[in-house]
Amino acid sequence: MKHLIAPSILSADFGNLSRDIQMLNQSEADWIHCDVMDGRFVPNISFGFPIISAVKKIATKPLDVHLMILEPEKYITEFAKAGANILTVHIEVSPNLHRTIFAIKQAGMKAGVAINPHSPISLLQDIIHDIDVVCLMSVNPGYGGQKFIDHSLVKIRELKDMINTTNSPTLIEVDGGVDLVNASTLLKKGADVLVAGNTVFSASNPSEVISQLKNIAFDNNKS
Ligand code: DX5
Ligand code: ZN
Repeated sequence: MKHLIAPSILSADFGNLSRDIQMLNQSEADWIHCDVMDGRFVPNISFGFPIISAVKKIATKPLDVHLMILEPEKYITEFAKAGANILTVHIEVSPNLHRTIFAIKQAGMKAGVAINPHSPISLLQDIIHDIDVVCLMSVNPGYGGQKFIDHSLVKIRELKDMINTTNSPTLIEVDGGVDLVNASTLLKKGADVLVAGNTVFSASNPSEVISQLKNIAFDNNKS
């Protein structure tokens, strides 16, 4: 499978959100990554249901909704109604992760699990085969435009090995600090989906950057 690109609208121009979504519709982006923050799990507040619903009305691509909130299981039905196609919860706030994943699927969405830089990949061992997408955080969640944490490269490989060994259908999504320089390395290590906020939206031609990320050359056999 060719890798997927999921631009994060956290770095979009909220005053011109419909223009930016239309740009994503026309671009080679595969998913639209929506970062929901509650000011409790992470030290920032972003947006919630009304914005997701508004984006859904314009978007022609799946909405990849990344919840950085406490008690995400309380809001599964509402995010489904708002138009989420993939709903991702953090493992750090999910004491009953198995139940939450099945509730997300029951609501008609793909289930994602996000994992912070300090959390070991081994936490996913007994649930990996039920997860559609692992969102591997390569920065501490809360803000766009942060520096990529290099140790994430080891974690991508470790996760890829776990997925292969267990023959799981799970995609690896790398989120945070992805740019045109590190993208090919991330793909080589095993990333399937690249999230990019700042790299896309700070560019003078965001659509062109999306195309470059989508068509980046990498050799699958090298590591
Ligand atoms: C960070 C968010 C990311 C963020 C990525 O908390 O989960 O999705 O928007 O932004 P960049 O690509 O700018 O690091
Ligand atoms: Zn995100």
